[in-house]
Amino acid sequence: MPSLVIVGTQWGDEGKGKIVDLLSADADLVARFQGGANAGHTVVIDKQEFILHLVPIGILHPGKVCVLGNGVVIDPRVLLSEVDELSARNIEVDGRLFISEAAHITMPYHKLFDEAKEIKRESKKVGTTHRGIGPTYTDKMDRIGIRAIDLLHFDVFEEKLKANVEEKNFFLENYYHHETTNYDDMVGEYRGFAQRLRPWIKDTSIIVNKFISGGKRVLFEGAQGALLDIDFGTYPFVTSSSTIAGGACTGVGVGPSKIDSVLGVTKAYTTRVGAGPFPTEFSEKLEEKMRIKGREYGATTGRPRRCGWFDALLVRRAVRVSGIDRIAITKLDVLDGMNTLKICKGYMYEGEIVDEFPAQTAILGECTPIYEQIWGWSESTREARTLGELPSRARKYLDRISELVGAEVAAVSVGPRRDEVILTDSKFW
Ligand code: GDP
Ligand code: IMO
Ligand code: MG
Repeated sequence: MPSLVIVGTQWGDEGKGKIVDLLSADADLVARFQGGANAGHTVVIDKQEFILHLVPIGILHPGKVCVLGNGVVIDPRVLLSEVDELSARNIEVDGRLFISEAAHITMPYHKLFDEAKEIKRESKKVGTTHRGIGPTYTDKMDRIGIRAIDLLHFDVFEEKLKANVEEKNFFLENYYHHETTNYDDMVGEYRGFAQRLRPWIKDTSIIVNKFISGGKRVLFEGAQGALLDIDFGTYPFVTSSSTIAGGACTGVGVGPSKIDSVLGVTKAYTTRVGAGPFPTEFSEKLEEKMRIKGREYGATTGRPRRCGWFDALLVRRAVRVSGIDRIAITKLDVLDGMNTLKICKGYMYEGEIVDEFPAQTAILGECTPIYEQIWGWSESTREARTLGELPSRARKYLDRISELVGAEVAAVSVGPRRDEVILTDSKFW
């Protein structure tokens, strides 16, 4: 029963794409279980860079089956342009990509609502990706969403769309004073999408469970990170899905007893795109330096990422809520050449030590980190392929992170390329 969930342990962009790619080589099926086109997962193969927003990373490995589970929200425009781009690069998805019948579809009005709500929030913006994610999940929970299966029953699609457009345009026009959508244009466009998507829309829970019961290897590819989780993140500065490992069960339709292990992907420092508290955020000068060195610009929106020291308190929480057994630490090489490094072990709030995540987000914003200082290293780590080849101070840094977050280190990534990695535990499955 070899199944493995891979999740981000911080605010996203930890390098999940690279780690999923690495482990996809030995997987039979790769499934996304939440999120939508807000994700941006990067893989660098030789000199070629692939950034995927919706299609699971497994597609880059010939013959692997890929699934977009019911927990994913799908923007057909983004999905099909991604598929076309892959095809132009000689990667065919036909017969390999399946979409859950129950996955919800992002419509143009979801994106307009996303924008309009952000404008209305003025100084309290979440800093969303404007991909319509929140509004698509809102409609799902409100039981008015359009699902992939509706594309196969176009009369149902049209009926649902009519009711939605009437309501959405009313609010867009009269409350948000924003651009509205046109029913006829959407019917035309989505009829075309339906034709192309038809062969891929299936009951994917059956497919995935068959793979698992047949002893095949299934990898669940998480998007975003634990601190962006709708329940356990820095609410309201979060995304609208369950980004933690439990989301793999509800987002694909497999039982918890079928999950064997959970791997957390952890950046060697911390980054965040969008608004919200970030206790270990660097001062402007250091942030700029790290951003350039780590190329910290959003893979989806191109926005500069905020950067800060490693926050062990936050990752410890991620380890707990996702039941993470092991972590893969990425971007260690970005810390090469720094004299000293800091790891945040806890916070101070109103003169008291805080060693658990404060539920009130405003309080998190007022917490001051308690740091432990660690010596940096001057050597390059990029050529290291075993732990022994790393500078001893880099090993100490990894050991301390492992100790503080309560998870073993299974892999260390030392560069963006596929081969720039140290595997410390070859038994991932
Ligand atoms: P994801 O959303 O978690 O998949 O991460 P992103 O792809 O959005 O961002 C991670 C970025 O870091 C990408 O540009 C990767 O190519 C790059 N990257 C991944 N691992 C490493 C690493 O170990 N070192 C360096 N320097 N870059 C890395
Ligand atoms: P990957 O999978 C980093 C952030 C946005 C914003 C908040 C809500 O590449 O790690 P949304 O559009 O989801 O409603 O925005 O979540 N966000 C991400 N940040 N990586 C991501 O995905 C993200 N997906 C959403 O910046 O703060
Ligand atoms: Mg990303």
